[in-house]
Amino acid sequence: MLKSIARAVVRKVIDRAADLVPPMLDPRLRSQRMNLPAIDRAAHVLKGKPRVLVCVGSGLSAESGVPTFRGPGGIYSDEEIAHLTHVDTFETDREHMLRWYQERREQLHSIHPNPGHHALIGLSQTGEYTVSTQNVDHLLEAASDAAGFRPRIYHLHGSLLSVRCHQCDYEVEDLHLDLSKQPGCPKCGGPLRPGVVWFGETLPEDALEKSMEVARNADVCLILGTSGLVYPAAALPETARRHGATLIEVNPHLSALSDISDVVIRGKTGEVLPVLLRRVQDLNQD
Ligand code: APR
Repeated sequence: MLKSIARAVVRKVIDRAADLVPPMLDPRLRSQRMNLPAIDRAAHVLKGKPRVLVCVGSGLSAESGVPTFRGPGGIYSDEEIAHLTHVDTFETDREHMLRWYQERREQLHSIHPNPGHHALIGLSQTGEYTVSTQNVDHLLEAASDAAGFRPRIYHLHGSLLSVRCHQCDYEVEDLHLDLSKQPGCPKCGGPLRPGVVWFGETLPEDALEKSMEVARNADVCLILGTSGLVYPAAALPETARRHGATLIEVNPHLSALSDISDVVIRGKTGEVLPVLLRRVQDLNQD
């Protein structure tokens, strides 16, 4: 009985909140009806130019057609693929590995930033934002080029745009080189490979240390589209929390970071972030 009264009250509150959204307004607002209370809480946390660490995972690029890794339709649902992301495979199955990475590099020519990327760049102009991404695509940089504004972006797992030598320190951004032809390094003759970090390899020290530094001093940590299962990237929100930051998660599904998040918005970044941006801008104008 009490439960049904409580449920009725909550229902009323949400309906009331949703009624605040005039029918003619932006359909995105309507699609986020259920999330409005959480989006509003997040906007209040993000107003007033805070120091924000943004932890990005493959979910941010999902609406651009880039598959995530885990979960339904994820890259790893194909067992044949999972071993192609480990450094040992470069010695045992190099041809297959380079062919697969070359396909992913070629896909970069046909994908574009989605409203989530654009809204994140918009948000990054409302405070002191640093983005620490696990993604190896260039979509956030493309969105920042379109906006003429680029926040600090650290690529923890490297980038598909660059190629580097497996033996020496040669590295160059080159999306036109066909890695499936197994080209040699112009400097030492060693094998060239994609500029990404494979399982069994260490992360770029500079990107990780700088991200950890920001995590230790952040007011807010915004967690976008990651399962929170891969370390040390997943340690960033944990570090931020230990140092007093407020954690906001945007993810349509439960993740390993949901339990430690103060505000959880169950939705897609491409649908939630534009609404969140508008709300933060409105609050900053008040
Ligand atoms: N918006 C927001 N989140 C989304 C969306 C979306 N449109 N679609 C899916 N997600 C969420 C999923 O619910 C899931 O929690 O994105 C998350 C993707 O999780 P993973 O596939 O595990 O990807 P990620 O966390 O980025 O993986 C980390 O693992 O395999 C390695 O190097 C790879 O960088 C990768 C790392």
